[in-house]
Parts: sequence; structure tokens; C-alpha cells
Amino acid sequence: MEAKIGSVFSDDEAMAIAISEAYKGAGRVSPNPLVGCVILDSKGVLLSKGYHEFYGGPHAEVNALKNLTEKNLKGAHVFVTLEPCAHEGKTPSCAKALAKLPIEKLTYGLIDPNPLVAGKGVAILEAAGIKTQLFNSSVAALNEELELVCEAFLWNFKMKKPFVTLKVATSLDGQIGLKNGESQWITGAESREYVHLLRSTHDAVLVGAGTVKIDNPSLNVRHPLIQKENKVIILDTNAEVISDFENLNLSKVHKSENIFWCVSGGSFKKAKEYCSKMTKYPQLISVDLKSEDEMNLDDLLEKLFEKEVRSILVEGGALTASSFLRDSKVNRICVFQAPIIIGSGGGKSWTENLKISSMKSRVHVRNVRTSTFGQDIMWSGRLI
Ligand SMILES: NC(=O)c1ccc[n+]([C@@H]2O[C@H](COP(=O)([O-])OP(=O)(O)OC[C@H]3O[C@@H](n4cnc5c(N)ncnc54)[C@H](OP(=O)(O)O)[C@@H]3O)[C@@H](O)[C@H]2O)c1
Repeated sequence: MEAKIGSVFSDDEAMAIAISEAYKGAGRVSPNPLVGCVILDSKGVLLSKGYHEFYGGPHAEVNALKNLTEKNLKGAHVFVTLEPCAHEGKTPSCAKALAKLPIEKLTYGLIDPNPLVAGKGVAILEAAGIKTQLFNSSVAALNEELELVCEAFLWNFKMKKPFVTLKVATSLDGQIGLKNGESQWITGAESREYVHLLRSTHDAVLVGAGTVKIDNPSLNVRHPLIQKENKVIILDTNAEVISDFENLNLSKVHKSENIFWCVSGGSFKKAKEYCSKMTKYPQLISVDLKSEDEMNLDDLLEKLFEKEVRSILVEGGALTASSFLRDSKVNRICVFQAPIIIGSGGGKSWTENLKISSMKSRVHVRNVRTSTFGQDIMWSGRLI
């Protein structure tokens, strides 16, 4: 749908435009939510739209109000994907700013998840005589879209943990590479470009030590339209790979403060000793063990949240992907499936750590969507 200023839109269409506005801030607003705003006049004519562009910058409502006069706003209907904020943070309260204007009505997509501020933005508007309503479309998919657009923010708020997306590139028969380590390339150039966009929409990219050893990846964002410095997380339980840190591609393209190297408590001293001999070294994180050589992923996620990591793209390899899956730590899954067959004889499955003995325990993916990239299909959906 083309959202042309001056065209007439229904309430559902206005909220759909606000949602697509919100996505324009993807990758730049964390730890804030993605928010979009649309303003219609009393006859449903689109006056303006806006979104939260970057962390610390003006909120969606303020951007949508830019260039509109009080005269324009007389009787206007404002649509915003999240309840306007009541508090003064890095920017002034949006609810207070809206309350001063001759707006007739405000429709908001979601109540603020913070119980301390939930309903307060709406109360400010109501007190100023502006009618408010929580959006509830007869089209269920549109209501779901509102949760989707700020899924990471809602999860962070509820669980105080980073939102985890697992990305895998597989053959039709579920292999992510060969047992001998060879894995390039499974998917085509279009899928791989989209993965860079996915990297840009997460705070950090995480891989296991095996992938670092075999692929020597850079794990940065290389997309023709996006520039972003992401964080990198490496799981190196026994501090084996860190000794070679200065020769790794990722050490050359990321700032030290953006690299979190996670080792077990027992290997922390060894890792520190290696670092003391380097001119450039990563941030070390000591993670509790769950068993002899497996990290406690709850402890890992809590520690990363403390380091202000709010969303993580887990990119493998097989052991890492399947331990996140087995321990129910994956919120969203993105599986890129290429039309090739590798065979389980020589292939490496991305679920090798996951052992299910009853069909009752099979893992269900919800709200599944598929997209096509060249010849590949991406399956995306929620697990938790
Ligand atoms: N097609 C794709 O999407 C894709 C993506 C990435 C990689 N790959 C391929 O996958 C292969 C590498 O996979 P891999 O399974 O050998 O290695 P991996 O998953 O990259 O790394 C495994 C290592 O990471 C650490 N680790 C991972 N999860 C852990 C956990 N829960 N607790 C503790 N440590 C954990 C362990 O380190 P310690 O050994 O120190 O215990 C483990 O040995 C390569 O061939 C690579 O090319 C494919």
C-alpha cells in the first residue's frame, strides 16, 4: 500500500502504515522499541507519518508532528504503534506534547509493557479531553503485527534477557555443511545479503568456537545500504581459540569493546593470561557451566543483558545452534533452505544436539512466514 500524503485511509490502513514506519528504525533504536506514528485528519486524509529513527532521537509522534500546525491538527486522529510515553527520558514526554494539541482522538497499538508507566500516557491524553482507544482490528494478523514489530523490546521488558534469533543456512535435508568443516556456500547471494540485514537488526552476532576455528568469519554488517557496528559474542568454553585472537578476521574489523569472549569460570584465568600478551584483546565474560563442557545459557544471557546486549543473532555452528534450541533459548528462528541435498552421511545437521524420543516433545514453530531469496526459501517463526 502506498502511503501518499493527501490520500484517504481507514483505521486499519493507518495502523498498517504506522507499523511499516516503525520498521524503518530497525537496527538503530535499541534498547528502545521500534515505533511508528500516522496522523489522519477528521476525514481520514493522511496528514503526516513518522518513526523513531535512532536511540536518543525524537520519538515517532514528535517526528510525525513536525511541519504540522495546530490548525492542521484540529480534529485529527493520531495512530501510534505503542502507547505514547508519559515520562521524560532522553526526550520530553510524547503524551504531554500531544495533550497540548487540538487532536480529537488517539489510537495506540499496545499498552506500554512497563507496569509503572502503563496507562499513564493514555491518562494524560484523556485528562486533556483527547479520546483514546486501544487498537483492536477484526483482522487478527494486524493485531499480531503490532506485537511483532516490538517483539524484542517486549521480551526484554518481561524477561530481562536478550531476544534470541537463530539463523541457519541449510540444505533441503537439514545439513549446514560437511562433517569435514566445509560449508561455503549453502545458500545463494540473495539470502546471504539478507543475513547482513538481519545482523544489522540485532545488537550482536553469536557463534561457537568451532565456527571461528573453521571459517574465521568477520561477523560484521556488510550490506550495500546499511552501515552499523555490531557486537560479536564468541562461545569458547575452554579458552582454546582466544590464543589466536589477534590473527582472526573478526579482531581486525571490530573494536575490542564490541567483542565479548565467553569462557567457563575454570578457563577465565587462562584466557586472561592470553589477553595480557596481546595489544588488542576482547572483553572476557566468565560463564557458569551446566555440565562438564556446556555453558549455562541462562547465565550467559543474563550476563550479556547486563552488558546491554538486547538482541542476539545466533549464527551457528551446529553445536551452538542445537544447544540454544535444546535449552529453549530461541525466540525466533530463521531457516534459509537451499535447493540442494547433502546427505546425512557426510553432512553436519544443525540439530545434532537435540534428541527427542517422543513426538509429543517435537518443537513447534508458531506464526510461520516464508520468503523467497533467489532460489532459497526462508522460514521464519517464533519458538518462545
Ligand atoms: N550453514 C550455516 O548456517 C552455518 C553457520 C555457522 C557455521 N556453520 C558451519 O558449522 C561448522 C561448525 O559447527 P560446530 O558445531 O563444529 O561448531 P560451533 O557450534 O561453531 O562451535 C562449537 C563450540 O562452541 C562452543 N559452544 C557452543 N555451544 C556451547 C554451549 N552451549 N556451551 C558451551 N560451549 C558451547 C564449544 O566450545 P568448546 O569446544 O570450547 O567447548 C563448542 O565446541 C563449520 O563447518 C561451519 O562452517 C554453518
